[in-house]
Amino acid sequence: MMTDQYAVIGNPISHSKSPAIHRLFAQQCDQDLGYETLEVPLDGFTQAVLTFFAKGGSGLNVTVPFKEQAWSLVSSLTPRARLAGAVNTLYRDEAGQLCGDTTDGVGLVRDLIQNHRVTIESKRVLVLGAGGAVRGVLEPLLQQRPQQLLVANRTAAKAQQLAQLFAGQGPIAGCGFDAINGAFDLIINGTSASLQGELPPLPPGVLAANGCCYDLMYGAEPTPFMRWAQQQGAAAVIDGLGMLVEQAAESFQIWRSVRPQTAPVIADVRKKLLR
Ligand code: ATR
Repeated sequence: MMTDQYAVIGNPISHSKSPAIHRLFAQQCDQDLGYETLEVPLDGFTQAVLTFFAKGGSGLNVTVPFKEQAWSLVSSLTPRARLAGAVNTLYRDEAGQLCGDTTDGVGLVRDLIQNHRVTIESKRVLVLGAGGAVRGVLEPLLQQRPQQLLVANRTAAKAQQLAQLFAGQGPIAGCGFDAINGAFDLIINGTSASLQGELPPLPPGVLAANGCCYDLMYGAEPTPFMRWAQQQGAAAVIDGLGMLVEQAAESFQIWRSVRPQTAPVIADVRKKLLR
Protein backbone atom coordinates (compact mmCIF):
# COMPACT_ATOMS: atom_id res chain seq x y z
CA MET A 1 0.00 0.00 0.00
CA MET A 2 1.12 3.54 -0.75
CA THR A 3 2.55 5.59 2.13
CA ASP A 4 0.14 8.34 3.24
CA GLN A 5 1.28 11.73 1.98
CA TYR A 6 1.09 15.08 3.75
CA ALA A 7 2.50 18.52 3.00
CA VAL A 8 2.57 22.10 4.16
CA ILE A 9 1.43 24.53 1.48
CA GLY A 10 2.50 28.17 1.47
CA ASN A 11 4.56 30.87 -0.22
CA PRO A 12 7.37 31.10 0.68
CA ILE A 13 7.73 27.69 2.25
CA SER A 14 11.32 26.50 1.91
CA HIS A 15 12.24 27.43 5.50
CA SER A 16 9.20 25.75 7.03
CA LYS A 17 9.92 23.59 10.07
CA SER A 18 6.74 21.57 9.62
CA PRO A 19 8.31 18.69 7.64
CA ALA A 20 10.97 18.15 10.33
CA ILE A 21 8.36 18.35 13.10
CA HIS A 22 5.93 15.92 11.47
CA ARG A 23 8.68 13.47 10.57
CA LEU A 24 9.77 13.44 14.22
CA PHE A 25 6.16 12.85 15.28
CA ALA A 26 5.85 10.01 12.76
CA GLN A 27 9.02 8.35 14.01
CA GLN A 28 7.96 8.70 17.61
CA CYS A 29 4.46 7.29 16.98
CA ASP A 30 5.60 4.65 14.52
CA GLN A 31 3.47 6.09 11.72
CA ASP A 32 4.35 5.39 8.11
CA LEU A 33 3.89 8.71 6.31
CA GLY A 34 5.59 11.25 4.07
CA TYR A 35 5.55 15.02 4.72
CA GLU A 36 6.88 17.57 2.22
CA THR A 37 6.71 21.29 1.48
CA LEU A 38 4.51 22.52 -1.34
CA GLU A 39 5.28 26.00 -2.65
CA VAL A 40 2.58 27.35 -4.91
CA PRO A 41 2.18 30.66 -6.74
CA LEU A 42 -0.04 33.25 -5.07
CA ASP A 43 -2.83 32.61 -7.58
CA GLY A 44 -2.40 28.83 -7.58
CA PHE A 45 -3.66 27.75 -4.17
CA THR A 46 -7.01 26.16 -5.03
CA GLN A 47 -5.64 24.25 -7.99
CA ALA A 48 -2.73 22.92 -5.96
CA VAL A 49 -4.97 21.74 -3.12
CA LEU A 50 -7.41 19.99 -5.44
CA THR A 51 -4.57 18.31 -7.34
CA PHE A 52 -2.88 17.20 -4.11
CA PHE A 53 -6.01 15.43 -2.88
CA ALA A 54 -6.97 14.11 -6.33
CA LYS A 55 -3.60 12.37 -6.42
CA GLY A 56 -4.43 10.63 -3.15
CA GLY A 57 -2.79 13.04 -0.68
CA SER A 58 -4.04 12.56 2.88
CA GLY A 59 -3.72 15.98 4.47
CA LEU A 60 -2.30 19.49 4.20
CA ASN A 61 -1.14 22.15 6.57
CA VAL A 62 -1.77 25.64 5.24
CA THR A 63 0.40 28.63 6.08
CA VAL A 64 1.02 32.21 4.99
CA PRO A 65 -0.61 33.62 2.91
CA PHE A 66 -3.28 31.00 2.24
CA LYS A 67 -5.09 30.38 5.53
CA GLU A 68 -8.06 32.58 4.63
CA GLN A 69 -8.31 31.11 1.13
CA ALA A 70 -8.34 27.63 2.65
CA TRP A 71 -11.21 28.76 4.88
CA SER A 72 -13.23 29.75 1.80
CA LEU A 73 -12.34 26.64 -0.17
CA VAL A 74 -13.45 23.81 2.13
CA SER A 75 -16.85 22.12 2.11
CA SER A 76 -16.98 22.00 5.88
CA LEU A 77 -15.36 23.90 8.73
CA THR A 78 -14.96 22.90 12.36
CA PRO A 79 -16.69 25.39 14.70
CA ARG A 80 -13.35 26.74 15.91
CA ALA A 81 -12.12 27.28 12.35
CA ARG A 82 -15.37 29.03 11.40
CA LEU A 83 -14.85 31.62 14.13
CA ALA A 84 -11.09 31.93 13.57
CA GLY A 85 -11.68 32.85 9.92
CA ALA A 86 -8.70 30.75 8.93
CA VAL A 87 -7.81 27.13 8.23
CA ASN A 88 -4.38 25.58 8.80
CA THR A 89 -5.32 21.89 8.55
CA LEU A 90 -7.04 20.20 5.60
CA TYR A 91 -8.30 16.63 5.41
CA ARG A 92 -11.08 14.66 3.79
CA ASP A 93 -13.96 13.07 5.68
CA GLU A 94 -15.30 9.55 4.98
CA ALA A 95 -17.45 10.92 2.14
CA GLY A 96 -14.37 12.49 0.53
CA GLN A 97 -15.44 16.06 1.32
CA LEU A 98 -12.69 18.59 1.97
CA CYS A 99 -12.72 19.72 5.62
CA GLY A 100 -10.87 22.54 7.34
CA ASP A 101 -9.77 23.02 10.93
CA THR A 102 -7.44 25.41 12.71
CA THR A 103 -5.04 24.30 15.41
CA ASP A 104 -3.11 27.53 16.03
CA GLY A 105 -5.19 28.78 18.94
CA VAL A 106 -5.26 25.50 20.78
CA GLY A 107 -1.52 25.23 20.12
CA LEU A 108 -0.91 28.56 21.85
CA VAL A 109 -3.08 27.68 24.84
CA ARG A 110 -1.44 24.26 25.25
CA ASP A 111 2.02 25.78 25.09
CA LEU A 112 1.11 28.36 27.73
CA ILE A 113 -0.68 26.03 30.12
CA GLN A 114 1.03 22.68 29.72
CA ASN A 115 4.57 23.58 28.73
CA HIS A 116 5.00 26.82 30.66
CA ARG A 117 2.44 26.46 33.49
CA VAL A 118 1.04 29.90 32.72
CA THR A 119 -2.55 30.20 33.96
CA ILE A 120 -5.09 32.12 31.92
CA GLU A 121 -8.13 31.50 34.08
CA SER A 122 -9.11 34.60 36.10
CA LYS A 123 -6.14 36.52 34.70
CA ARG A 124 -6.03 39.86 32.92
CA VAL A 125 -4.84 39.20 29.37
CA LEU A 126 -3.69 41.78 26.82
CA VAL A 127 -3.37 40.77 23.17
CA LEU A 128 -1.45 43.07 20.83
CA GLY A 129 -2.56 43.11 17.19
CA ALA A 130 -5.82 42.43 15.39
CA GLY A 131 -4.78 40.59 12.24
CA GLY A 132 -5.29 37.00 11.15
CA ALA A 133 -2.90 35.57 13.73
CA VAL A 134 -4.77 37.21 16.61
CA ARG A 135 -8.22 36.30 15.33
CA GLY A 136 -7.07 32.66 15.31
CA VAL A 137 -6.22 32.57 19.02
CA LEU A 138 -9.05 34.55 20.65
CA GLU A 139 -11.64 31.82 21.10
CA PRO A 140 -9.28 29.30 22.75
CA LEU A 141 -8.01 32.08 25.05
CA LEU A 142 -11.55 33.03 26.03
CA GLN A 143 -12.39 29.38 26.67
CA GLN A 144 -9.85 29.51 29.50
CA ARG A 145 -12.07 32.11 31.26
CA PRO A 146 -9.71 35.04 31.72
CA GLN A 147 -10.97 37.83 33.95
CA GLN A 148 -10.49 40.23 31.06
CA LEU A 149 -9.18 40.01 27.50
CA LEU A 150 -8.18 43.32 25.92
CA VAL A 151 -7.21 43.42 22.25
CA ALA A 152 -5.09 46.48 21.43
CA ASN A 153 -4.11 47.40 17.90
CA ARG A 154 -2.41 50.20 15.95
CA THR A 155 -5.67 50.56 14.04
CA ALA A 156 -8.13 50.72 16.93
CA ALA A 157 -11.20 50.03 14.77
CA LYS A 158 -9.87 46.57 13.83
CA ALA A 159 -9.44 45.64 17.50
CA GLN A 160 -12.95 46.87 18.27
CA GLN A 161 -14.38 44.84 15.38
CA LEU A 162 -12.63 41.69 16.58
CA ALA A 163 -13.90 42.24 20.11
CA GLN A 164 -17.43 42.55 18.74
CA LEU A 165 -17.06 39.34 16.75
CA PHE A 166 -16.00 37.41 19.86
CA ALA A 167 -18.23 39.19 22.37
CA GLY A 168 -20.36 36.07 22.82
CA GLN A 169 -17.35 34.05 23.90
CA GLY A 170 -16.31 36.00 26.98
CA PRO A 171 -15.20 39.34 28.49
CA ILE A 172 -13.40 40.87 25.51
CA ALA A 173 -12.84 44.50 24.53
CA GLY A 174 -10.83 46.25 21.82
CA CYS A 175 -8.91 49.55 21.70
CA GLY A 176 -5.94 51.42 20.25
CA PHE A 177 -2.50 51.25 21.90
CA ASP A 178 -3.00 54.72 23.39
CA ALA A 179 -6.12 53.56 25.25
CA ILE A 180 -4.54 50.58 27.03
CA ASN A 181 -5.46 50.94 30.66
CA GLY A 182 -4.37 48.95 33.70
CA ALA A 183 -1.92 46.15 34.35
CA PHE A 184 -1.98 42.70 32.77
CA ASP A 185 -0.86 39.27 33.97
CA LEU A 186 -0.27 38.01 30.46
CA ILE A 187 0.65 40.03 27.38
CA ILE A 188 0.63 38.25 24.02
CA ASN A 189 2.23 39.93 21.01
CA GLY A 190 0.36 39.00 17.84
CA THR A 191 1.50 41.97 15.75
CA SER A 192 3.99 41.62 12.95
CA ALA A 193 5.88 44.68 14.25
CA SER A 194 8.93 42.52 15.04
CA LEU A 195 9.38 41.88 11.32
CA GLN A 196 10.21 45.59 11.00
CA GLY A 197 12.29 45.46 14.19
CA GLU A 198 9.60 47.49 15.93
CA LEU A 199 7.82 47.34 19.25
CA PRO A 200 4.15 48.30 19.73
CA PRO A 201 4.02 51.42 21.95
CA LEU A 202 3.14 50.16 25.44
CA PRO A 203 2.44 52.38 28.45
CA PRO A 204 4.59 52.05 31.58
CA GLY A 205 3.16 49.69 34.18
CA VAL A 206 1.21 47.64 31.65
CA LEU A 207 2.85 44.41 32.83
CA ALA A 208 1.60 43.37 36.28
CA ALA A 209 3.99 42.07 38.94
CA ASN A 210 4.69 38.41 38.11
CA GLY A 211 3.22 38.95 34.64
CA CYS A 212 4.28 36.86 31.66
CA CYS A 213 4.89 37.79 28.04
CA TYR A 214 4.42 35.63 24.95
CA ASP A 215 5.37 36.45 21.37
CA LEU A 216 3.61 34.43 18.65
CA MET A 217 6.81 34.79 16.63
CA TYR A 218 10.07 33.02 17.24
CA GLY A 219 13.61 33.12 15.94
CA ALA A 220 17.21 32.53 16.90
CA GLU A 221 17.17 35.95 18.58
CA PRO A 222 14.57 37.41 20.96
CA THR A 223 12.14 39.82 19.28
CA PRO A 224 11.98 43.51 20.30
CA PHE A 225 8.84 42.66 22.30
CA MET A 226 10.69 39.90 24.16
CA ARG A 227 13.56 42.26 24.96
CA TRP A 228 11.07 44.80 26.27
CA ALA A 229 9.46 42.07 28.40
CA GLN A 230 12.82 41.15 29.88
CA GLN A 231 13.48 44.81 30.73
CA GLN A 232 10.10 44.96 32.46
CA GLY A 233 11.11 42.04 34.67
CA ALA A 234 8.54 39.61 33.28
CA ALA A 235 8.24 36.36 35.25
CA ALA A 236 8.42 34.47 31.94
CA VAL A 237 9.27 35.53 28.40
CA ILE A 238 8.19 32.95 25.85
CA ASP A 239 8.43 32.81 22.07
CA GLY A 240 6.11 31.03 19.63
CA LEU A 241 8.23 27.95 18.96
CA GLY A 242 6.25 25.82 21.39
CA MET A 243 3.02 26.99 19.78
CA LEU A 244 4.38 25.93 16.39
CA VAL A 245 5.04 22.41 17.63
CA GLU A 246 1.76 22.21 19.55
CA GLN A 247 -0.33 23.26 16.54
CA ALA A 248 1.51 20.61 14.53
CA ALA A 249 0.74 17.97 17.16
CA GLU A 250 -2.94 18.84 17.02
CA SER A 251 -2.92 18.53 13.20
CA PHE A 252 -1.10 15.21 13.50
CA GLN A 253 -3.78 13.95 15.86
CA ILE A 254 -6.56 15.02 13.49
CA TRP A 255 -4.93 13.05 10.67
CA ARG A 256 -3.52 10.04 12.52
CA SER A 257 -5.70 9.77 15.65
CA VAL A 258 -2.61 9.58 17.84
CA ARG A 259 -1.15 12.34 19.95
CA PRO A 260 2.63 12.75 19.78
CA GLN A 261 4.71 13.95 22.71
CA THR A 262 5.78 17.51 22.01
CA ALA A 263 8.54 18.17 24.57
CA PRO A 264 11.31 16.23 22.80
CA VAL A 265 10.33 17.76 19.46
CA ILE A 266 10.31 21.31 20.86
CA ALA A 267 13.79 20.68 22.28
CA ASP A 268 15.01 19.35 18.94
CA VAL A 269 13.63 22.25 16.90
CA ARG A 270 15.05 24.74 19.41
CA LYS A 271 18.48 23.15 19.13
CA LYS A 272 18.44 23.38 15.34
CA LEU A 273 17.21 27.00 15.51
CA LEU A 274 20.14 28.03 17.69
CA ARG A 275 22.94 26.45 15.77
P1 ATR B 1 -0.96 38.27 10.61
O1 ATR B 1 -1.50 37.23 9.70
O2 ATR B 1 0.47 38.06 11.04
O3 ATR B 1 -1.85 38.55 11.76
P2 ATR B 1 -1.91 40.71 9.47
O4 ATR B 1 -3.29 40.15 9.37
O5 ATR B 1 -1.38 41.51 8.33
O6 ATR B 1 -0.85 39.58 9.71
O7 ATR B 1 -1.85 41.58 10.81
C1 ATR B 1 -0.67 42.24 11.20
C2 ATR B 1 -0.91 42.88 12.57
O8 ATR B 1 0.29 43.48 13.03
C3 ATR B 1 -1.95 43.98 12.56
O9 ATR B 1 -2.61 43.99 13.81
C4 ATR B 1 -1.10 45.24 12.37
O10 ATR B 1 -1.70 46.43 12.82
P3 ATR B 1 -2.74 47.25 11.88
O11 ATR B 1 -4.03 46.50 11.94
O12 ATR B 1 -2.84 48.59 12.50
O13 ATR B 1 -2.12 47.27 10.51
C5 ATR B 1 0.07 44.89 13.24
N1 ATR B 1 1.30 45.62 12.90
C6 ATR B 1 2.07 45.49 11.80
N2 ATR B 1 3.15 46.28 11.85
C7 ATR B 1 3.08 46.94 13.03
C8 ATR B 1 3.91 47.91 13.69
N3 ATR B 1 5.06 48.36 13.13
N4 ATR B 1 3.53 48.36 14.91
C9 ATR B 1 2.40 47.91 15.48
N5 ATR B 1 1.57 47.01 14.93
C10 ATR B 1 1.91 46.54 13.71
